[in-house]
Amino acid sequence: MSKKNTPTEIAQEIQSLKEQLNYHAHRYYVLDDPEIPDAEYDKLFRRLEHLEQQHPELITLDSPTQRVGGKVLDHFKQVTHEIPMLSLSNAFSEEEIHDFAKRIDELLDHETFNIVAEPKLDGLAISLRYENGLLVQAATRGDGYTGEDVTQNVRTIQAVPLKLSGNDYPEILEARGEVFMPKAGFEKLNRAQIEKGEKPFANPRNAAAGSLRQLDSKVTATRPLDMFCYALGMVKGEHPEQPIKQTHNEILKQLQHWGLAVSPEVKRLDNCQQCLDYYQDILKRRPELPYEIDGVVFKVDSIAQQQKAGFISRAPRWAIAYKFPAEEAMTKLLAIDVQVGRTGALTPVARLEPVFVGGVTVTNATLHNQDEIDRKDVRVGDTVIVRRAGDVIPEVVGPVLSRRPENTQPYKMPDHCPVCGSVAERVDGEAKSRCTGGLYCPAQRKEAIKHFASRKAMDIDGLGDKLVEQMVDAGLINDVSDLYQLTVKQVSALDRMGDKSALNLIEAINKSKSTTLPRFIYALGIREVGEATALALANHYKSLEAIESASQEDLQEVPDVGPVVAHHIVTFFEQAHNQEVLKKLLDAGIHWPEIVSKDETELPLAGKTVVLTGSLSTMARNDAKARLIELGAKVSGSVSKNTDIVIAGEKAGSKLIKAQELGIEIWDEEQMLALFNQE
Ligand code: IVH
Repeated sequence: MSKKNTPTEIAQEIQSLKEQLNYHAHRYYVLDDPEIPDAEYDKLFRRLEHLEQQHPELITLDSPTQRVGGKVLDHFKQVTHEIPMLSLSNAFSEEEIHDFAKRIDELLDHETFNIVAEPKLDGLAISLRYENGLLVQAATRGDGYTGEDVTQNVRTIQAVPLKLSGNDYPEILEARGEVFMPKAGFEKLNRAQIEKGEKPFANPRNAAAGSLRQLDSKVTATRPLDMFCYALGMVKGEHPEQPIKQTHNEILKQLQHWGLAVSPEVKRLDNCQQCLDYYQDILKRRPELPYEIDGVVFKVDSIAQQQKAGFISRAPRWAIAYKFPAEEAMTKLLAIDVQVGRTGALTPVARLEPVFVGGVTVTNATLHNQDEIDRKDVRVGDTVIVRRAGDVIPEVVGPVLSRRPENTQPYKMPDHCPVCGSVAERVDGEAKSRCTGGLYCPAQRKEAIKHFASRKAMDIDGLGDKLVEQMVDAGLINDVSDLYQLTVKQVSALDRMGDKSALNLIEAINKSKSTTLPRFIYALGIREVGEATALALANHYKSLEAIESASQEDLQEVPDVGPVVAHHIVTFFEQAHNQEVLKKLLDAGIHWPEIVSKDETELPLAGKTVVLTGSLSTMARNDAKARLIELGAKVSGSVSKNTDIVIAGEKAGSKLIKAQELGIEIWDEEQMLALFNQE
């Protein structure tokens, strides 16, 4: 810069940078709707840092550079809550929610009332005190009456404004809410902890609490914390143009108006049924939410009605937490069994004393592999924590060491397959060891047949897991081709099988003979050949013979097929017994319509390079990719000037921005689906 700026100009630039940065941080962290690329933000930030270094006298507390952590404390000061921070009464059943609604109805002398529903965030309650718009204090809930001063730590949370937006806020505003750690940040933090040889946190709540209780706020600054506000505390000196609103719902909007973050899931409801529906809906979406919640909270909307309903001991009568079934529970580990998968992978499974967790009774939980067992040091006889989140397979989180009995032994996976006795091998770089018995192993055979019959493969109706196991154990079938030799008589002789169901099964088996090439390839159960790869192979080669005779190099021409998958495909077709089974299957009459080679240049996306970015809401990315390829596109992972179309799903980021900069044609998911449907 040639001209030296005057002190006023510098002060003005600093002020402007602070305002811009605060504005963009709010868009990014609170509204989840960034306006500028990260790099632009960083540039502004560095400019401000630079100016402040030159003029330290111009640094103010609300500067975004002042979030990085301050001096190390030797203890936290105590803070008295002028208005106590209360807790909530809990409900665990629909009946208790009906009772709650009835109670409110009586307390309010049958006035009509509305309810505001919110997620119950699984973090810790924090109070934020703003004086003349500036954050001056942040405190934990403590026992509800006195908490700890964690201001320095809370200042590092990007979603907490250091200065409120606008100028119509009260002189003193206390906002309350939950500080939490989003799931993704938690996973990342734990990976880093393990890498550093430090203990991982048991769950996001503990990680959030641990991060806020750091005496060195520079550590907190590295932790991915977030915050949603859900209540007002003390308010003094309201702005005449913006008096505090009279309903909870509007107060939350007001907090947003001042730049504070509020959960996007908040809803104003009219009746009890809507509350129950809200609970079910959130419970269903719980696994997809980016943060942990442990229930929902219902609050009477009108502040006047809240006052009328009043309090009971330490909880308001006008609110209730409807808790989800606990996702973690404690039980005894009775034994560790080893299961053999379709491709021979050995998985240790914990046999547990039955325990009610995540809404169901759990008796088995996965232990993943030897490394996981070692890391957690889980032993037979231990009392363990079991976790079942949503529909995810239950898993053992870890042992409760204080309850470990004497004489327990660390667990070692067997070096032989527990089913067929073949050697179990662990290939370098793989987490699991594998039975080397191949289709000699009854366990692998059973799994291969189950896979062959499954819905996305040959889709044999009525051929469930138990039936397959019975038929293999009875020696009726040894491989998938034997299915096509079964007779009604043989099947009807099996346990719990009448003539009618036997006949139905044979019919279903016959019906499966008419299939498609991609389904058939997928059904063969070649390692790492999922649906998308099977489809890509079929489209590329058009016939089974062509796939069989393709070399490893050839195969890698197929989108999505790398050296490892290509190797698995070649090895599969090289095996004599696989060839035998294939021949028997084709002899039995399995067939599919020919894939006609269309003139490639006539395909709608012929010659186009397409990039998929962001997340798709209606289909798996791999399936979309396979369809695009079918339509002639070349699908690439990165945007360049050679890209023709970028398909942007939700939360598309840098690739979308780059595409916009390069002026590339951009489609949304709907446009892509429209093309798929049309074709
Ligand atoms: S309202 C007077 N709303 O639950 C009501 N609390 O059991 C005060 N929590 O200490 C709390 N999400 O840590 C409220 N949407 C929400 C909440 C919530 C989580 C926590 C909070 C509180 C505890 C009460």
